[in-house]
Amino acid sequence: MEKAPAGPLPRSRDSKSFTADRDPARGGKLARAIALLRFSPPRSESTGPSAAETRAKGRLPQPAAIRLAHWINIPLLVIMAGSGLQILAAYPALGPRGGQYGWYPFQNQAPPSWLRFGGWLAGARHWHFAIAWFLILNGAIYLIYMVASGEWRRRIFIPTRDTSNALAMFAYYLRIRRTPPSQDFYNGLQRLAYSSAILFGVVVVLSGLAIYKPVQLYWITAAFGGYDVARVVHLSCLVLLASFTAMHLVLVALHPRTLVTMVTGGQRG
Ligand code: HEM
Repeated sequence: MEKAPAGPLPRSRDSKSFTADRDPARGGKLARAIALLRFSPPRSESTGPSAAETRAKGRLPQPAAIRLAHWINIPLLVIMAGSGLQILAAYPALGPRGGQYGWYPFQNQAPPSWLRFGGWLAGARHWHFAIAWFLILNGAIYLIYMVASGEWRRRIFIPTRDTSNALAMFAYYLRIRRTPPSQDFYNGLQRLAYSSAILFGVVVVLSGLAIYKPVQLYWITAAFGGYDVARVVHLSCLVLLASFTAMHLVLVALHPRTLVTMVTGGQRG
């Protein structure tokens, strides 16, 4: 995803009418919300680095630890998804013992063979349970680095800071708004997308543990509402991660400069 230009953005209307749109006495709540979505913020809001950016001064946009974890994650996730679907093929139904959920549209239909990996049930289980440890290790290193380095501040979605920017960016993509909102490192929508992917990653691991050892780790299984629900959550995370990846790849293809930065690290700020 490409960053919008930092600093003040061109105004689509003069500041007098902009102020009038945002005036609660004249416009009311709806007019204020529309104004926020459609126009750039006043100059004073869009200039100057954010606190997170100031802290990140002198750092690479994409530090080596984040790049390594990101690229290692991809083959790990591909093997996990393929072997998981091969395991699912052994019993391609969702529901409690002896029953099946009515809402699941693919009951008794195995995933297509080209999506599966591992050859057969036992082979896929070996791959799935071996690679899972590397996925957990890689994810743990990424999260520990994010916290220890303070990188989380410019990457993680913080609702109080990022919600209006995410909405404005969404409005820009929908062409409701003519100019992108101001942003520092990532825009609100990027932060939301990446934070969601990280959350799906955490939930896929926890739900996986819940169905891997439902006796020993009964408390994790119980927290998901039981074995069958944990299985549904595990499969849903796969769908969510796959949807995120598809969207992610489209946006990266539209903004190839971000790919170069994710490989080289970019230039120090
Ligand atoms: C071949 C596949 C992929 C490519 C080419 C790719 C490329 C990229 C690029 C270029 C960025 C930086 C984007 C920016 O600056 O806005 C990025 C960030 C990110 N990607 Fe991917 N990606 C791929 C697959 C994935 C997958 C499978 C996941 C996880 C499901 C993922 C999760 C993320 C996350 C969480 C970030 C943000 C990292 C951070 O800021 O800490 N990516 N990716």
